[in-house]
Amino acid sequence: MSTTVITGANRGIGLELARRCIERGDKVFAGCRKPDEAHELEALQPHSILPLDVGDEASVLSFSKVVDEHVGLLINNAGTSITNLGFDRDEVGVMKAPVALTLDLIRINGLSAAMVTRSLSDQLESGSKVANITSQIGSMVVGSNFNDLPYAASKAVMNMVTVQLASQLKAKGIAVVAFHPGWVRTDMGGSSADISVEESAHGILSTLDTFQLEQSGAFLKWDGSIHPW
Ligand SMILES: NC(=O)c1ccc[n+]([C@@H]2O[C@H](COP(=O)([O-])OP(=O)(O)OC[C@H]3O[C@@H](n4cnc5c(N)ncnc54)[C@H](OP(=O)(O)O)[C@@H]3O)[C@@H](O)[C@H]2O)c1
Repeated sequence: MSTTVITGANRGIGLELARRCIERGDKVFAGCRKPDEAHELEALQPHSILPLDVGDEASVLSFSKVVDEHVGLLINNAGTSITNLGFDRDEVGVMKAPVALTLDLIRINGLSAAMVTRSLSDQLESGSKVANITSQIGSMVVGSNFNDLPYAASKAVMNMVTVQLASQLKAKGIAVVAFHPGWVRTDMGGSSADISVEESAHGILSTLDTFQLEQSGAFLKWDGSIHPW
């Protein structure tokens, strides 16, 4: 049985990734901020539901100590937006964005992938895969027109974390990839987004099935096609 770790597994894309991994027989360690309120996740009966705030280094370290076995797949999915942190879009363009808010987003959405991955480095072995759920907004091509500096910068940091992890972990045989999951109908993506969580999660997991070490450091769309940096 392969062990899979998913962060932000209680709703949205993370919940659907958890559902599919459990259905195919993975032993899933599901991280979320409030396990007591994760009723949909609980109904899926993952191996463990563990408290995890990816923006809090102490929480990340406690989480990783409980995941005390070889991890075949780590999905760094947890992420947030400026609206979740109480700000409006018209307050967060590059000419206005508060520095503290921008740094918060960078820590939660960007550096978290480094914190979680390195805290699990003893559990990742040759053949393991790490998938970072980034966004097209972290691309220099797409993000330049997006009037939300904190989110764009945070996902650009996640993209840099991805290529640096890929470089550092290649010798250990661990492959790392960044996925733009699509514009997905979740609380974050909204109801008029392009694709369902099912389509996004199916594409990401199918792509991971065949993802090779030689491809490590790639930036892909959910359907496996290459995304421009
Ligand atoms: N939906 C889209 O169109 C879209 C597009 C591009 C990229 N993405 C990325 O895809 C990922 C999943 O997004 P989604 O659409 O599924 O969003 P969502 O429905 O808002 O779910 C976000 C998940 O992340 C968790 N989370 C937020 N902050 C966290 C923290 N500090 N520690 C641990 N967990 C935290 C949330 O937990 P709580 O329930 O505790 O808040 C929730 O489980 C995110 O990284 C997002 O940036 C989404």
